[in-house]
Amino acid sequence: MSITLSPIIAGAMNWGVWQANFTTAEMARMIHSCFDNGITTFDHADIYGGYTTEAEFGKAFTQSGIAREKIQLISKCGIQHTVGNRPTKVKHYDYSKEYILWSAENSLKFLQTDHLDILLLHRPSPLMQPDEIAEAAQKLKQEGKIKALGVSNFTTSQTELIRSRTDVFCNQIEFSATHLNPMLDGSFDYMMMNNIKPMAWSPIGSIFKEHNDQSHRLKLLLAELVAKYGVTADVILLAWIMQHPAGVVPVSGSASPERFKNQMKAVNLKLELEDWFAIWTESIGNKVP
Ligand SMILES: NC(=O)c1ccc[n+]([C@@H]2O[C@H](COP(=O)([O-])OP(=O)(O)OC[C@H]3O[C@@H](n4cnc5c(N)ncnc54)[C@H](OP(=O)(O)O)[C@@H]3O)[C@@H](O)[C@H]2O)c1
Repeated sequence: MSITLSPIIAGAMNWGVWQANFTTAEMARMIHSCFDNGITTFDHADIYGGYTTEAEFGKAFTQSGIAREKIQLISKCGIQHTVGNRPTKVKHYDYSKEYILWSAENSLKFLQTDHLDILLLHRPSPLMQPDEIAEAAQKLKQEGKIKALGVSNFTTSQTELIRSRTDVFCNQIEFSATHLNPMLDGSFDYMMMNNIKPMAWSPIGSIFKEHNDQSHRLKLLLAELVAKYGVTADVILLAWIMQHPAGVVPVSGSASPERFKNQMKAVNLKLELEDWFAIWTESIGNKVP
């Protein structure tokens, strides 16, 4: 099954009550703006907005008038949060076959669609049973309810465990100029060798969120690179992760249509080799090893 994703994915985590709190009309405009600028893949999770954002998006997408087959929908399952209207007392993960099937059905209902392009297992659980997960994925695929199964925040061995029973399309992990692990711990090498698509969450990192020495060093360098390349700092940070040969697809968390439009400039930006390494250098505050 071939799935074509847009070069940047729009993450909807911040669009609902957790941050932007868009009205249905505002969210429909946001979806349209992404779509008009070539961002056709939208990332969700059942938990976003305390189990409310998928439904907000579903209403807005229906209002947008865009045809379902023109976009790709990702959602996630497995985290049982203590937020929202569930009776959960202790945050935990559930990857039983029944729960995966139930959660996927909820996502379809809330998003007002008949299928998800990709269903992700949101976080690995020590108790997950790969056979049960494979059975659930097979059933959902056979019924046309998902096109592919992926994982999120999985190590290579955890991914390999699931892959020993069923196909794994992608791994959505944290990766940015301030979170370097996947390019250093073998995760990307493994994904390249096994044709697993890497998606990067929090792709611009903590530079604008945390006021520490690392942010300060990177901001000084970024000011030079902004002048040199004639694009904004977030565009440089996205281009930096997209330059990795694993073919990383950023999942951008903006709630601003203008920011998304601007960020698409990263698709055609190639940083000079020394500039790419300068970002790594300022991130760690030292020469690269
Ligand atoms: N799989 C997982 O476990 C997992 C975990 C976390 C997130 N995610 C997914 O990843 C997506 C992105 O995560 P994220 O929100 O952490 O990503 P992010 O794109 O790294 O950060 C987005 C935030 O940075 C702000 N921002 C962007 N450019 C900026 C700039 N130049 N100056 C100052 N602020 C700037 C945005 O503000 P504006 O709104 O003003 O643009 C927004 O609040 C989520 O929506 C979700 O879909 C997945």
